[in-house]
Amino acid sequence: MIDKMENLKGWAYNTEKLPRDRQLLLLDNVQFIYELALAQLELQSLGAQFEVTNEFREFRLLGAKDEDRLMRRAAYFKFVRGKATDYFKIIQKNRTRSVNQYLTHWIYPYKGKFHPQMIRALLNIIGLKQGNTVLDPFIGSGTTAVEAQLLGINCIGIDVSPLCVIQSKVKTESIYVLPQIVELKPSLFNLETLDDSINSIPNDKVKNFHKMAKLVAISDNARRGRELSNAFLKNLELMISSVSDYCQVVKELNIELGQIDIKTGDSRALPLDNESIDGIVTSPPYSIALDYVANDAHSFKDLGYDALKMRNDFIGVRGTGKTKMELYNADMKKSYSEMYRLLKPNKYAVIVIGNATYQGKEVKTVEFTIDYMGGLGFRLVKNINKIIFGLYNVMKKENILIFKKEG
Ligand SMILES: C[S@@+](CC[C@H](N)C(=O)[O-])C[C@H]1O[C@@H](n2cnc3c(N)ncnc32)[C@H](O)[C@@H]1O
Repeated sequence: MIDKMENLKGWAYNTEKLPRDRQLLLLDNVQFIYELALAQLELQSLGAQFEVTNEFREFRLLGAKDEDRLMRRAAYFKFVRGKATDYFKIIQKNRTRSVNQYLTHWIYPYKGKFHPQMIRALLNIIGLKQGNTVLDPFIGSGTTAVEAQLLGINCIGIDVSPLCVIQSKVKTESIYVLPQIVELKPSLFNLETLDDSINSIPNDKVKNFHKMAKLVAISDNARRGRELSNAFLKNLELMISSVSDYCQVVKELNIELGQIDIKTGDSRALPLDNESIDGIVTSPPYSIALDYVANDAHSFKDLGYDALKMRNDFIGVRGTGKTKMELYNADMKKSYSEMYRLLKPNKYAVIVIGNATYQGKEVKTVEFTIDYMGGLGFRLVKNINKIIFGLYNVMKKENILIFKKEG
């Protein structure tokens, strides 16, 4: 992680030179067909009338119910009538080289993170407003939580993995304890007593922040052979800068943050009331061939958990051969039924999922999801192919399924 960090770019933008008719300018990183589809859906949802022009990166804005709201919430646009969007300003606060790892998103190299820009757009598309509550019952690295927080949407994030719970908390809660974190820093320079020092921190948010800095360092050490103490201090520094960027962005853009509640839990039995949720955005485990419990074993150990004992609670890793698939399907049925129970009528659930390959065969997870959700009373309103071409022509295909719970 350390070698990817760069100096922060400045805050000032020269927006004046843009001709006014370049009214809706896409962000430079937008390159896939599914992103254009989402960009159009979010414009519609934010009450804009528009035309796609001949220039690939520009849309003509014909009118908008509330132009200021469009500028404040849009995820795929750089400028609205020559004015920089909030999102464009937010993504400048990035200490990494990766365009989607701004603010606290980068903290911990978790496999299978959502693209945050897509989540911001989806929150817009399903019509969530300030003060509504979104649920992600497979919160993973906390992407939905950070994006909801930035849009003033409350978020309940659940994960069975303590590693996911701690990283999601750290990414969304550290902004509330920045002065205490900064104040503590000098006392942590004695690395021999680091564990004891961290464990004796009375404030949980401050303690979690330091546990996370250590986990990032352990991962740097394991993957890149970095010396642990240097990696810890460097990560601590970078994490503090990112949290401080977050505080600055909130102040400068006058953002009213959503309230975030991250809990350890099981998506098959959620401790939440019937019809209490305004929207769901999530990505369930589907790579049954990838054992992500084994993947994160070193971090579980450092957090004091026995990965082997926890396996039974994780969807997609239990059993072998045919049983593995059967267990996966049964677990996902329970999770989808829970989503149906919790969601208010006429609201939306977005499931991002792909077909997995297991024992050389394609497992039709997407079709399974569509069929089962349909049987529960969810209507599929959009099925967007999310095809990404990576290095060496490697193609990754997922589907963005948008369901409506029929009232
Ligand atoms: C595909 S990942 C989600 C990634 C997430 N969207 C992100 O941006 O990081 C799926 C998550 O499901 C979690 N999970 C597996 N079984 C679970 C269960 N029974 N209840 C809740 N979460 C579970 C895993 O720990 C993993 O974090």
